Amino acid sequence: MGLQSLEIQDFRNIVSASLQFSAGLNLVCGENAAGKTSLLEAIYCLGRVRSFRTSIAAQPIRDGQAAFRLVGRVLSHQGREIPIGLERQKQGLKVHFDRQPIRRLSDLAGSFPVQVLSGDTPTILNGGPRYRRQSLDWALFHVEQAYREVWQRYTRALRQRNAALRAQSPVKQVITWDAELLDAAVQIHTFREKYFEALALHVHAEMKMLLPDMEVSLRYQPGWPANVALSDALSQSLDKDRAQGFTQYGPHRADFSLQVNGKGVVSHCSRGQQKAVVVCFMLAQVQLQQDQSTPMGAFLLDDLTSELDVPHQQRVLSALRDLDSQVFVSAIDPETVEVADWPAVKKFHVEHGEIQEVV
Ligand SMILES: Nc1ncnc2c1ncn2[C@@H]1O[C@H](COP(=O)(O)OP(=O)(O)O)[C@@H](O)[C@H]1O
Ligand SMILES: [Mg+2]
Repeated sequence: MGLQSLEIQDFRNIVSASLQFSAGLNLVCGENAAGKTSLLEAIYCLGRVRSFRTSIAAQPIRDGQAAFRLVGRVLSHQGREIPIGLERQKQGLKVHFDRQPIRRLSDLAGSFPVQVLSGDTPTILNGGPRYRRQSLDWALFHVEQAYREVWQRYTRALRQRNAALRAQSPVKQVITWDAELLDAAVQIHTFREKYFEALALHVHAEMKMLLPDMEVSLRYQPGWPANVALSDALSQSLDKDRAQGFTQYGPHRADFSLQVNGKGVVSHCSRGQQKAVVVCFMLAQVQLQQDQSTPMGAFLLDDLTSELDVPHQQRVLSALRDLDSQVFVSAIDPETVEVADWPAVKKFHVEHGEIQEVV
């Protein structure tokens, strides 16, 4: 599984590129502002149909152009090459999967899953609770077929309940949604809790490799007070919900936290250590996905050499190698990046948006 080739047109400063990738490590090098992050962003866009750098969908269109185009070929489970095409105009988007137009983006989900770590993205440490929830949900969408359905059911019931609250509807109308809400909520919670438990084991194992002096602990908060059933939390907060116009408790308020050596990561770890902690978490997520034999698309790591010292860069790289997934790593200074023990490596040099394979 992975991205075999990619054609890019008018994406940020990349006018055009036609690239063949390695199924193992792809090392992307070049000076500042050459276009390294833009290449990773294009790959990410193909997998998730959105950027990791901006919420403005048209922003990556090269200045002065009407659209950007991406055509990637990914390898399916069965070893078949499947083209994914994406054309983003200022207004509008066209997506093709296996030469068929895609109408609902959810139809594309899972065909080329990508994970990214970049200085331009929020992380589980510095992003808000919404970001952390999304990191769990995204993984569960891929790992558990039933999750997407129950999540949609929950979201619908919550939207209706909140609309009733906002409209100051009578109590009877507000609580008609509670049965549906509770049923879906309990299922979401069960999925997440089970996933989080398994994830924590992998995070511990990764931390032993990358940051052996640090003891990590992870805690999941379901989105309502501990030791209280959600049904009770809902009825106890009904007056407050009505006063504030939204539902206070439920899986939509879930969060999780990480501590190392009993302390907050952001307040007590160096930037390099924080980056390593985030890498551990992401590696753990990919491993869990692989345990479930869902396809892993690609792991994108932007600016490997920034913030990490050479020993940690090497440990991160060898952890990535052990994943047995396709990896894209960008670096300004590739000399320190040790690639000798990778079975399949390709290097790319980026300069003013032009990308050349280094042979
Ligand atoms: N929509 C755009 N059109 C043209 N150029 C852009 C666009 N968005 C960003 N750029 C430029 O692309 C260049 C490459 O940026 P980036 O990929 O972040 O470089 P790197 O990661 O190699 O430091 C920057 O000079 C940036 O100003
Ligand atoms: Mg960059």
